[in-house]
Amino acid sequence: MALLELKNLHVALEDGTEIVKGVDLAVDLNQVHAVMGPNGSGKSTLAYALMGHPGYVITEGQIFFDGEDVTELAADERAQRGLFLAFQYPHAVPGVTVTSFLRSAINAIRKARAGGADDPVPVPEFRQEILAAMERLRIPRELAQRYLNDGFSGGEKKRVEILQMAMLKPRIAVLDETDSGLDIDALRIIADGVQELVGPEMGALVITHYQRILNHIEPDFVHVFVDGRIVEEGGPELAHKLEAEGYKAYEEAVA
Ligand SMILES: Nc1ncnc2c1ncn2[C@@H]1O[C@H](COP(=O)(O)OP(=O)(O)O)[C@@H](O)[C@H]1O
Ligand SMILES: [Mg+2]
Repeated sequence: MALLELKNLHVALEDGTEIVKGVDLAVDLNQVHAVMGPNGSGKSTLAYALMGHPGYVITEGQIFFDGEDVTELAADERAQRGLFLAFQYPHAVPGVTVTSFLRSAINAIRKARAGGADDPVPVPEFRQEILAAMERLRIPRELAQRYLNDGFSGGEKKRVEILQMAMLKPRIAVLDETDSGLDIDALRIIADGVQELVGPEMGALVITHYQRILNHIEPDFVHVFVDGRIVEEGGPELAHKLEAEGYKAYEEAVA
């Protein structure tokens, strides 16, 4: 069994509208999967449901993580097990520096893993780790001292998200490239960060409308997602086909 497995996953909005209509997907360590689909096809809904967002209801099917059925687990319980959704902190948090935000996030996970007892990461260890991660990801040091997302450019936000990913060390990272057009700088940061972190300890699920991020990350598997379902699967060549031909043929087929 792969580390993350979705079995016939159906997801509805709180009003009962079904958005994700039966998805099977298996993501393992050392793999990059791309889920690609048109706007409104339900990609973000799938990402939120994976992470346990309370506004998205799993009505049928299951999510397995490391062999365990996590379908009913809360978001923080999934995070503790090593499932991470990037791009979920778009808001500025004045008064909280990037460093202190990351330390709290790490300590929350450590506490949960220690069965609810405080187990804060020793400051020198944390400092060493964050400096090493910033160097590895080529993130300017001054960013760590700034207030989280306060006046950050798109590229700086992405840097912090990638840094967060590096520090939390998830086993599966889910990246939802929102449709709010990222500039090329931000795309490169994400692509390089994912490339750097995917390996024997991490796999990634990159959700995107655009083919362009995949010019910088070579996915191992591409899943075409239309109207709440995976309608075609293939290797990296499929992403190029989509770039050339778009989603039109798939959309017409399901219409
Ligand atoms: N919280 C929500 N409230 C109301 N409608 C939603 C919500 N989330 C998603 N939807 C609807 O679900 C559909 C799929 O949206 P979404 O998952 O964001 O698609 P994608 O990420 O592929 O663009 C859209 O019709 C969208 O309006
Ligand atoms: Mg979306």
